Amino acid sequence: MYYDINHKFLLEEEIYNLSKNSQFDKTKLYKQHGKTSVYEHSINVAYTSLLIAEKMSIKTDFRSLVRGALLHDYFLYDWHVPEKTHMLHGFTHPRKALENALAEVDLNNREKDIILKHMFPLTPVPPRYAESWIVTAADKICSVMETLNFKQTIKKDSAAGDKT
Ligand SMILES: [Fe+2]
Ligand SMILES: [Fe+2]
Repeated sequence: MYYDINHKFLLEEEIYNLSKNSQFDKTKLYKQHGKTSVYEHSINVAYTSLLIAEKMSIKTDFRSLVRGALLHDYFLYDWHVPEKTHMLHGFTHPRKALENALAEVDLNNREKDIILKHMFPLTPVPPRYAESWIVTAADKICSVMETLNFKQTIKKDSAAGDKT
């Protein structure tokens, strides 16, 4: 699979930045799909988004793509715990993720849109930017692969981040 070396560095840089400037590392504590943590899932989605964007050869804000993807599930709770507030997790977590992210880091409009719209069509408002559509697609691909416990390419090809 093609993977631009500059994009690999970009992904690692943004993981580092978020680790320093937010509670991003806390996402290691929460499981997303199967054995995959929210942290791993977020990196998988960022990596897959980069691959899709490279293949599509369209004008892309790669940094916003990566930052939005890394923060798209920044809701910071265990949605598997049966609590009343988690019952509508699929519909509500994009806004919670956006609120959490905005409390800690500055986001541009693309990054906000990526986070807020990534569950489309479950949430009704469609993504506005190409980057948001890409992350929406990457999220669904990764969710299926993680649920079925496929080995993620990122674990072999990228040194990005902690693999816990
Ligand atoms: Fe999500
Ligand atoms: Fe996700």
